Amino acid sequence: MNTQAVLDARQVSKHYGRFLAVDNVNLRVMPHTIHAVIGPNGAGKTTLFHSLTGTVPITQGSIVVNGRDVSRLPAHKRVQHGIARSFQVTSLFPELSVRENLRIAAQGTVPRQALRFWTLPTGPLSHAERIDDVLERMGLTATQHMTAGTLAHGQQRRLEIAMALIAQPQIVFLDEPTSGMGVDDIDAMKQLIHGLKSLCTVVLIEHNMGIVMDISDTITVMQQGRVLVEGPPDAIRNNDKVRQAYLGNMITGGQA
Ligand SMILES: Nc1ncnc2c1ncn2[C@@H]1O[C@H](COP(=O)(O)OP(=O)(O)OP(=O)(O)O)[C@@H](O)[C@H]1O
Ligand SMILES: [Mg+2]
Repeated sequence: MNTQAVLDARQVSKHYGRFLAVDNVNLRVMPHTIHAVIGPNGAGKTTLFHSLTGTVPITQGSIVVNGRDVSRLPAHKRVQHGIARSFQVTSLFPELSVRENLRIAAQGTVPRQALRFWTLPTGPLSHAERIDDVLERMGLTATQHMTAGTLAHGQQRRLEIAMALIAQPQIVFLDEPTSGMGVDDIDAMKQLIHGLKSLCTVVLIEHNMGIVMDISDTITVMQQGRVLVEGPPDAIRNNDKVRQAYLGNMITGGQA
């Protein structure tokens, strides 16, 4: 099968001054997969995300989404090409309800005809229907009238992802969605991320190896700004270079 990549980043580099944080990275992400980016602290994962989503300009390379070159577009323009990333907690409105947060996020988005999965036989989903759908997907329906600032940490992290999903992205970028979570919340988040595959493509930075190994289709391992190795979970789990990169038992030991 010759499926086209939904995201094709070629020879992407990002300098901070003289420091090369992302060094000639190639990343091909196939549609409706979960593609994890892992690697030790400081490997350049977040910088790669910033580069792909347009938060920082790249120094070199090209980024193609669905065949369109977005390399030079600012972040808000890339959203229109189907890229979204999970919001930080600070971008929630803590004094507003969960539903109101999503309504505000929805108002900033333009429905895209091309995104068939949001389209009913009778026409595109209304904002209210999109909000209902996202609330249900992220397990937040019961909390929709609660004030966002009063949510438990795990629920806030789910709301951040819900805010990104409202933009109807083809690709959603999640940077450590389980950080700071307890065991129960982590397991719920794992199931929810896995469920996103039917809706869109997920690019995931995650230090919890249990999650990465359980739900990823492809894993790209970064070290010192470069891609060290890429493959399916089984190949990565047993790769000596990866073990050495982590200098320890992270791969077999779960949480980083
Ligand atoms: N704005 C910046 N200016 C200068 N250097 C930066 C900047 N942002 C990141 N770096 C450096 O780039 C390197 C990669 O950082 P990055 O945050 O991308 O790593 P990471 O893989 O996401 O790490 P972690 O797992 O700890 O989140 C680090 O050495 C970091 O200090
Ligand atoms: Mg990071």
